[in-house]
Amino acid sequence: VQVLPLYLVGTGLVGGTLLDQMAGQRRELADRHSIRIELVGLADSRFMKLDNAGIPMDRWRESLESGAKSDLATFVDVMKSARLPYACFCDCTASDSVASRYEEILESSIAVVTPNKKANSGSMERYRNLAAVARNSGAAYRYETTVGAGLPVIGPIRDMVSSGDRIMRIEAALSGSVGFILSGLAADRSFSALVREASKKGFTEPDPREDLSARDIARKALILARESGFSPEFEDIAIDPLVPGAWFEARSVADFYTALEREDATYERKRVEAASRGAFLRYVATIHGDGSASISMREAGQGDPFHALSGPDNMIVITSERYRERPLVVQGPGAGAEVTAAGVFADILHTII
Ligand SMILES: NC(=O)c1ccc[n+]([C@@H]2O[C@H](COP(=O)([O-])OP(=O)(O)OC[C@H]3O[C@@H](n4cnc5c(N)ncnc54)[C@H](OP(=O)(O)O)[C@@H]3O)[C@@H](O)[C@H]2O)c1
Repeated sequence: VQVLPLYLVGTGLVGGTLLDQMAGQRRELADRHSIRIELVGLADSRFMKLDNAGIPMDRWRESLESGAKSDLATFVDVMKSARLPYACFCDCTASDSVASRYEEILESSIAVVTPNKKANSGSMERYRNLAAVARNSGAAYRYETTVGAGLPVIGPIRDMVSSGDRIMRIEAALSGSVGFILSGLAADRSFSALVREASKKGFTEPDPREDLSARDIARKALILARESGFSPEFEDIAIDPLVPGAWFEARSVADFYTALEREDATYERKRVEAASRGAFLRYVATIHGDGSASISMREAGQGDPFHALSGPDNMIVITSERYRERPLVVQGPGAGAEVTAAGVFADILHTII
């Protein structure tokens, strides 16, 4: 049996679900693949537990809460000095401070797996450096779930590029919450009401401006562009905001909703105009063949792949030299703890198989 020692930081929606999935898959992994994932380190922002003998995955919460006060520097030092073969560090936080550790972890030949976008959507220099550190150390660095959650997006693009294909264009609807809002628009369902509904369903961040500002979409577009072989910086992405920038200055979320309600008629007019042409409104990130990238609202009519998109689903449409006539299309849920954790789980296994 091949043992995979796992250090996991972040036990929220994704990290907690991942632990449950790994506990449930234990026997199958041993019987069919001869792999045993041994949880040897666990931390959230309050506690940490390090134990080379293994932390029980089905009782991780009690174990963690019996641990020491969380301290990332100590956690990383202990992990590095343990030198466990095939060790993997999994970052299930959205934290910059955790992401800032990847280089030193990879340099110690420990694999890094993460759904956290922070490292790869920083400067291009950092992105290149991380790839180089991973290459030189021989440790895997996997982040498939940073775009489209569990959907296979980064792997296929990488395979296309490394086998000599050339990406000509990527168009992508990358926000479940924005997709839910735009595809829900109807005469009796206003934009502001849909933002409230998306928030209530947990599709948005607690402050929905985070979702509507397109910054998160831009981070994902940046990663897609870089994986496609281009070198953009965050500032190079031309964002046509879904919601006027001035509204983000509203002091509170409540003030923001009031401003939003005043504009419901504008969105309704856009929806009706699109409908008169048999089209729907979509918010799409485009990576162009020259490496430039933009994010804007567009009307998707019959024949446009985004016409069929609905609800919070993501869609990524890849046109390349080999997929020139008919693009490669990936569609499905682009968020949610189950599918994201499953993608992280697969990335962890791919560090050794
Ligand atoms: N949820 C999704 O559908 C989804 C989809 C794709 C990608 N992602 C990405 O997956 C990551 C995790 O998302 P989530 O929804 O699971 O978030 P979450 O529920 O907010 O959980 C975040 C976890 O990170 C921990 N944490 C934060 N800062 C930390 C630090 N400095 N040191 C140690 N632990 C720290 C938190 O600890 P406390 O509990 O102690 O605060 C919490 O356990 C994010 O990068 C997110 O963008 C999520």
